[in-house]
Amino acid sequence: MATEKTFYLETFGCQMNAHDSEKVIGTLVHEGYRQVELEQDAGLILYNTCSIRDKAEQKVFNRLNDHKKLYKAGKRFGVLGCVAQQEGEKIFERAPYVSLVSGSASYRKLPEMLARLEDGETRITGLDDRQTEETFETEFTSRQNPYRGYITIIEGCDKFCAYCVVPYTRGKERSRSSSSVLAEARRIADQGYTEIQLLGQNVNSYRDPEGKLNFAELLAAVGQVSGIRRVRFTTSHPRDFTRDIVAAIDAVPTLCDHVHLPVQSGSSRVLKMMAREYTREWYLERIGWLKAAKRPISLSTDIIVGFPGETADDFIQTMDLLQEVEYDCVFGFKYSARPNTPALTMIDTIPEAEKAQRLQVLLDRQREIQRINYSRQIGNIVEVMVEGMNPGRGQIIGRSSQNKPVNFTSSALIAPAPGAYRQVRITGAFPNSLLGEAVQ
Ligand code: 5AD
Ligand code: SF4
Repeated sequence: MATEKTFYLETFGCQMNAHDSEKVIGTLVHEGYRQVELEQDAGLILYNTCSIRDKAEQKVFNRLNDHKKLYKAGKRFGVLGCVAQQEGEKIFERAPYVSLVSGSASYRKLPEMLARLEDGETRITGLDDRQTEETFETEFTSRQNPYRGYITIIEGCDKFCAYCVVPYTRGKERSRSSSSVLAEARRIADQGYTEIQLLGQNVNSYRDPEGKLNFAELLAAVGQVSGIRRVRFTTSHPRDFTRDIVAAIDAVPTLCDHVHLPVQSGSSRVLKMMAREYTREWYLERIGWLKAAKRPISLSTDIIVGFPGETADDFIQTMDLLQEVEYDCVFGFKYSARPNTPALTMIDTIPEAEKAQRLQVLLDRQREIQRINYSRQIGNIVEVMVEGMNPGRGQIIGRSSQNKPVNFTSSALIAPAPGAYRQVRITGAFPNSLLGEAVQ
């Protein structure tokens, strides 16, 4: 009898990576592998990696180091994702027990690469597809999230921001056809999902290869799929953010009241150095459109502090922008120099301690903004989709359409399952979550 083929997969990084892993798992299962929970129990150990910042990149090498002794027990290792694409065959030098290195643009070839692995090959690579026009579509996606169905609509990135590895790791920008996206949306609605999240490095740069729908039209069409109650999308790029996206949110109630629009800096001078291709004014104009929507739309953003050449005055402009927009959530990062990127050659004179201090000032200010924003919700009744339970506190955990975490109690005897919807009266607020009770 042939021995059973088993694999372990750990994912680092963004939602794109998390969803890639769902597709990779589905592909492996279709190839006869069984997923296991522990490295020790697997014949094949895979890491789907992230290289957006130095810290993220180090994680995979730590993990490989922790488990390399398992190689002697006959286990095989594979590195997938952004570190794989970025470091390529150098990974075989650094970790000679790794047999497979593949970037996300080559996942279509996984069945073939797995077959070679089973034949005993030890240096298999999928690294040459960054210029491909093809997207990775599979009917075998193994959805790991019980309440949110992810759909990739656009892969890769052509924006080449000065600090960013993604155009080098995920390759050229390429969109899926709108008919294939809509077919997948219908399929997962039939499976019982009511929330869809459309994914892409820049979702709103979407260009239908069939020429049928633009991004706003695709959003509206997904929002009208029977059974779908919530549609999210991430990430949007300010340069391609058009007014018809706001009009679509206004017109289609299933499109969530939340837009993630990374600004990166509040200084036009820094934005120019970052090659973001918009100014502070351009960005704020789009925020103005969003604030004028019929429903209050929650806003979130990403900010990098300490980009090479960022002065104290540039940073003050970022702080002013924070105050002006009043985001509900900010992901703040210290600039991290990345291989291959143009910013690597810029002179970086800001001391680490200064970068850390700017980040702390930013996050402290944002916490105060959120404390006020969230407390404005007290007394409102909001619809919450249940994500799980916190048995210790006797609370049900969920999220509002605005993407705010809501922890609530209910007098009902049976706890609602993940994916259920409840009307919740908000009774309390913290900077990062709301407290409430289910309305009977
Ligand atoms: N250093 C710090 N932060 C970065 N990001 C992307 N590249 C870098 C980098 N080199 C941040 C950006 C992006 C988010 C996903 O990660 O803010 O929007
Ligand atoms: Fe990390 Fe960017 Fe790759 Fe996502 S696309 S895994 S954030 S490097």
